[in-house]
Amino acid sequence: MNRTRRLRKTENIRRLVRENKLTVDDLIYPLFIEEGKNIESEIESMPGIKRYSLDTISKELDEVVSLNIPAVLLFGIPSKKDDEGTETWNDNGIVQQAIRFIKKKYPNLYVITDVCFCEYTSHGHCGIIHNNDLENDATLVNLAKQTISHAKAGADMVAPSGMLDGAVLAMREALDNTGFYDLPIMGYSVKYSSAYYGPFRDAVDSSPSFGDRRTYQMDPSNRDEAMREANFDDLEGADILMVKPALSYLDIIRDLKNNFDRPIACYNVSGEYAMIKAAAEKGWIDEERVMMESLLSMKRAGADIIITYFAKEVAKVLLKR
Ligand code: PBG
Ligand code: ZN
Repeated sequence: MNRTRRLRKTENIRRLVRENKLTVDDLIYPLFIEEGKNIESEIESMPGIKRYSLDTISKELDEVVSLNIPAVLLFGIPSKKDDEGTETWNDNGIVQQAIRFIKKKYPNLYVITDVCFCEYTSHGHCGIIHNNDLENDATLVNLAKQTISHAKAGADMVAPSGMLDGAVLAMREALDNTGFYDLPIMGYSVKYSSAYYGPFRDAVDSSPSFGDRRTYQMDPSNRDEAMREANFDDLEGADILMVKPALSYLDIIRDLKNNFDRPIACYNVSGEYAMIKAAAEKGWIDEERVMMESLLSMKRAGADIIITYFAKEVAKVLLKR
């Protein structure tokens, strides 16, 4: 008789036949950096995650580096916003300052920047608004400016998150034309219009002041369209393709893994983090085990890279093993 239980008998045989493993090499840790001084503010809906100013962020970075987490993903929170988010291409803006600071103090830490406008626009949308809608091609011009500004500051990788058509191509051309032909792009290729972003928007104050993001982010009902989105980013030259959110979209991660010869990333977003934290706080789940199991499911689905607020905690668990 075939008995699948034979290979489950002891931990050592289970180790030998284990198909997927989560390692610290898979992780990217997001950081929220706010313009100003002496800031270290808790984000209520994301326990353990804080907004830091540059003068307080070192202990966080020391920990990231000592845990051997390979990369961080930077989000800036500026002190002033306007219609177009002009602060995004200020060479002395908060993200640009942060890149220079981190690359100087922690030269080996890989610095990725989120390239978008919603934290910087007064209306909270991801670019220029015209007749109550996001104006795609005009925004691409600003996107190129922001990209070059991040590149000049020393970013190792740029990641457009606005779901604009042609974003990767606009950025690739801008980078190639300014000598940054070696700087990779991670596309937020398949990004759904998701309620799971709620805590993040509280964290960085980026909720749209009117309407929603459904005219640019994807409809959660759609699976075939995800292939079209990923295909465009692939053709435009994205070096890494990302799916976001992760947990409710594991089928999409697998589709991309099976169909594209590029590394696949997924973003374990703020709402996914908040749900585990909240249930754990109530004593309803075993936080460590649920965290590890849900991130492992992303690996099993096909993710090569996981962007997660749990990165430090996962790294600590892995060290115990
Ligand atoms: C902005 C952006 C968002 C996230 C990353 N970049 C949210 C949004 O589209 O409103 C979400 C991250 C998270 O929820 O953890 N374009
Ligand atoms: Zn945005």
